Amino acid sequence: MKPVKLGLLGVGTVGASTAMVLKNNAAEIARRAGRSIEIIQASRRSVAAGMPQGCDNISLVSDPFEVVNNPEVDIVIELIGGYEPALKLVMQAIANGKHVVTANKALIALHGNEIFAQAQRKGVNVVFEAAVAGGIPIIKSIREGLSANHIESVAGIINGTGNFILTEMRDKGRDFGDVLREAQDLGYAEADPTFDVEGIDAAHKLCILSSIAFGIPLQFDAVYTEGISRVFTEDVVYAGQLGYRIKHLGIARRTGEGIEMRVHPTLIPHKRLIANVDGVMNAVLVQADKLGPSLYYGAGAGADPTASAVIADIIDVARTITTDAQNRVPHLAFQPDQIVEIPILPITEVQTAYYLRMRVEDRPGVMAEITRIMGDNDISIEAILQKEPESGVTRATIIMLTQKIREQQMVDAIEAITGLDVVHGEVHRIRVETLDGD
Ligand code: HSE
Repeated sequence: MKPVKLGLLGVGTVGASTAMVLKNNAAEIARRAGRSIEIIQASRRSVAAGMPQGCDNISLVSDPFEVVNNPEVDIVIELIGGYEPALKLVMQAIANGKHVVTANKALIALHGNEIFAQAQRKGVNVVFEAAVAGGIPIIKSIREGLSANHIESVAGIINGTGNFILTEMRDKGRDFGDVLREAQDLGYAEADPTFDVEGIDAAHKLCILSSIAFGIPLQFDAVYTEGISRVFTEDVVYAGQLGYRIKHLGIARRTGEGIEMRVHPTLIPHKRLIANVDGVMNAVLVQADKLGPSLYYGAGAGADPTASAVIADIIDVARTITTDAQNRVPHLAFQPDQIVEIPILPITEVQTAYYLRMRVEDRPGVMAEITRIMGDNDISIEAILQKEPESGVTRATIIMLTQKIREQQMVDAIEAITGLDVVHGEVHRIRVETLDGD
């Protein structure tokens, strides 16, 4: 059978690894795909930097449009990242009738709807396994492996850099900036590391997971996003004393009123498997009506794990090249005319439990005032921890866990508590999820 010819856009960390793995595992890949697969042309900004060792037979150009317009190329591999020129290149590749494999989560989260509509019109595939959770085949698992199920929720640690930072803070008490620098040196962090720390990278991935789990359009702007830059070492310590770990979770959940899509630091009971996912590793917990809970764990970033997902997509596309376009696996898991609008819940309507930390005057009646405000807002307290003040200090730290309530109740209560004279500084609030399938 004729070999499948690839055009590679971007020879950075993941691009170079993709070229190397395709070369080193060529025989095994051909056995699986039923034909050989070869990169015939690649583009990188600095042609002088060349191709990785052993891949110098590949024609290297500086203009990526030369690759997408090359009539010999069957599949374009987009590993440039970012919005532009990636969007123009992908649209041009589709217009030229080429299939596209991409690892670009920002591009899919923000422009996926128009990309898939165009791909549908042209009868080509656009696949993006490497865009979510690096090497873990989570897209394929939800889209194909769980296709008999009604998906109820997806909760994941889907940013390796953020998880690495939280793990090092907990285990070694290391400084935030110092750990972030290490993640950058190891090639885990985004070009703009605020995407990792402020949850934008995780929100891109959650938006994609929500669409394939629930059959809804991609709606990045509707994802509530909160980063980890306001998680303090003392919260990590107090959470541990209460039997919890703090993880930066992306949560998508179907409720009777609509769909929750949210990324924020979350307390999880330490006995849950996902609470023990540490370092740069990622994990996604899927709650499905027939399978029940299932957990997918693996490397969420890094050159070879990401290349592993890119190449699995290439093999899938190679296998479907001769298949009738109508009978291919749909881009967003559901048939295009079956993608439905379901309301996305504003964060104020979302229900979770809460962890609160506040600094208060250590004198009679203070606790009573705080618990009265909680009662007025119909908030039930699950646990209270008060640290004995050190000698000579008149302020105490109170930690509280609440039962599950609507976010707006918590917002109102925090406003009232912050307004008390006896409360000093901010009331720190972190959401709590038990992840026990309720
Ligand atoms: N910056 C991302 C992370 C890389 O840390 O998870 C993989 O998308």
